[in-house]
Amino acid sequence: MINALRGMKDTLSPQSEIYQYIIATCTRIAQNYGFSFMETPILEETALFKRSVGESSDIVGKEMYQFIDKGENDVCLRPEGTAGIVRAFIQQKFDKAGGNRRFFYHGPMFRYERPQKGRLRQFHQFGAESFGEGDVREDATIILMLKAMFEALGIGFTLEINSLGCPACMPQYRTTLVKFLETREGLCEDCERRKLTNPIRVLDCKNEHCKTLLADAPLITEHLCITCKDDFTTLKRILDQFGVSYLVNPKLVRGLDYYSKTAFEFVSSEIGAQSAIAGGGRYDRLVEFLDGKSTPAVGFAMGIERLMELVKMPEIEREGYYIGALCDEALDVVFELVDRKRKTEKVLTDYDAKSLKNHLKIADKNFVKFCVCIGEDELSKQSVWIKDLVSKEEKIINIAHF
Ligand code: HAM
Repeated sequence: MINALRGMKDTLSPQSEIYQYIIATCTRIAQNYGFSFMETPILEETALFKRSVGESSDIVGKEMYQFIDKGENDVCLRPEGTAGIVRAFIQQKFDKAGGNRRFFYHGPMFRYERPQKGRLRQFHQFGAESFGEGDVREDATIILMLKAMFEALGIGFTLEINSLGCPACMPQYRTTLVKFLETREGLCEDCERRKLTNPIRVLDCKNEHCKTLLADAPLITEHLCITCKDDFTTLKRILDQFGVSYLVNPKLVRGLDYYSKTAFEFVSSEIGAQSAIAGGGRYDRLVEFLDGKSTPAVGFAMGIERLMELVKMPEIEREGYYIGALCDEALDVVFELVDRKRKTEKVLTDYDAKSLKNHLKIADKNFVKFCVCIGEDELSKQSVWIKDLVSKEEKIINIAHF
């Protein structure tokens, strides 16, 4: 027997209904905020992710589904959505056209991680990316949009924010941090590597010994330039004004290399160790880095499987019809009626004649609102028997009026 690969899974009803509900809810809200849907390929050139997500990240360093295709191209299943959207943005020459563009997307992402609860190798994200707006109010708007999505889904969260600085202040902070790291002995292997490739990622290490060694590390929030400091203050002020509680975490650096200024993560305490339900931030240098015209950008992505654990679905209401035949002679009439009714309604049926009791059982199991049956009596009178399974009311009506 062939099973799905480790860390990959099938999504069936009722979970698939929750999945669709999350997509529909977030789509509606993203559209209200002026975002339009973009679909990009799942397979992209490996170089795209190396240059955007960054060679020093775990995603590129350890987790990519990378292979050489039949045309000798080095390709990769996308580990995240931002890089593809940025590539498309540049390819469509939106960077040259200027102005603001806002896109949302959803679909499968692939990371060859060690599978555990809440961590899959194929998982799904809903994300949004905004281009052309450098004002920190856009960062605040993205966070408010996420808050609206989680509220609509009935999901509680805590929000952590940080500012990672910009080219004016980041290099200086980096030098200060590297000097500090050189005084620390006994950092783990990953940290020793990151010290050379991307030192701020050291701050994010989960190793308890590293955490102790880094307890008094210099913090980026204390080394921001005036512009970054002002923007971070404005962001906090807007969040306060809109009643969004947050925690400033100066060690929140995110696992992807493209961020500058605002970085944030939404966390849930209800789903175990893999608690990040959404993450994002500003990435003002990425468009230029991928050979486009310099364009400020900010965005987020959330993990749909993690949200599925938390979402409170509204009570499902009975809907649609079940139509069944009580005798073989009625089968053709039922078949035709089902096809006609399906033009406007959800209709279920059965191709065998059955007793009324059995039809009612199937209708109830499928949670439809009406059970409709046709037997000898109904055939002779050109009528149908119909029962409302909510009000329990039964009646016979002319088939022409059904
Ligand atoms: P990320 O933090 O790597 O950011 O992923 C976003 C979310 O995807 C996470 O918060 C988590 O909910 C979910 N996720 C990540 N890895 C897994 C996994 N292995 N299994 C299940 N869920 C997972 C990004 O991907 C950025 N592209 C976000 C962004 C958009 N930043 C700016 N724009």
